Amino acid sequence: MIQKTSDKVGAVLVVGGGVGGMQASLDLAESGYKVYLVEKGPSIGGVMAQLDKTFPTNDCAMCTLAPRMVDCGRHLDIEKLTYSEIDSIEGEAGNFRVSIRKKARSVDPEKCTGCGECTEHCLVRNIVYMDRPGREPVQMEESMKVKVDTILDSYKGGPEIIVPILHDVNEEFNWLPPEALLRIAEVTSIPIEHILRIGSFYNAFSLTEKGKHVIRVCTGTACYVKGAPRILDAFSRELNVEIGDMTEDKQFSLETVNCVGCCGQSPVVTVDDDIYGYVNQTMVQDVLGKYT
Ligand code: SF4
Ligand code: FES
Repeated sequence: MIQKTSDKVGAVLVVGGGVGGMQASLDLAESGYKVYLVEKGPSIGGVMAQLDKTFPTNDCAMCTLAPRMVDCGRHLDIEKLTYSEIDSIEGEAGNFRVSIRKKARSVDPEKCTGCGECTEHCLVRNIVYMDRPGREPVQMEESMKVKVDTILDSYKGGPEIIVPILHDVNEEFNWLPPEALLRIAEVTSIPIEHILRIGSFYNAFSLTEKGKHVIRVCTGTACYVKGAPRILDAFSRELNVEIGDMTEDKQFSLETVNCVGCCGQSPVVTVDDDIYGYVNQTMVQDVLGKYT
């Protein structure tokens, strides 16, 4: 009797570590295959990891994704090759050879605990903000120095005072000017990296200059389907400003926000702390009129 032999290999390659790639890897690994999961980004998760909610059910994206990420991360038969790209493939279905280029991370993934210390002290990130191309060299006007020093004088203590200080500075200038942050670092001896980390973490703080009034058009799912894009356009036309920018007279900034928790009154617009529900395009001028 002739024994039929097979040269197929019990290993598979999955390309792309998004939610589809992760689920495929888990299914294959559970079926007994050794899985090599290749992802060009630094982490598995894909685009879904950047989403808040998913259409049309409005489910939390992370609730769908996180269990698969954890299962993939722990599965002994799934070898994760992140920050990697395929160079070449040779062979045939069932038995092929793939060359993979792994990009340098400059970090040993076996030793990294994800503590985040390196982010706090990242020179590249801080230089990007403090020395942005086109920005004038950081120099502080006397009037700003007086205001910042007055705020600093009202706080005493350790590094925990940084949040209330930044809150007051942000309220005073409507953003966190780099020269003010340098002054805070100088007076409090808190490292500028730490200050920037706090400043960029909280949504309440802004590292870019904002107008006196900040208009936020909600583009969450409920508001989107009720016409938020048209309202956004109407504000943009009326103010002659792009989304994310500030008007020339520094009176208004126009932004979007993902759900402000008033979906029952969609479409919703906020101006500073004021909330406007059931907004339509004809109301845009009236809303703006209250702040000019
Ligand atoms: S500082 Fe922390 S997060 Fe950064 S590489 Fe080292 S262990 Fe990883
Ligand atoms: S989606 Fe706009 S308030 Fe919830």
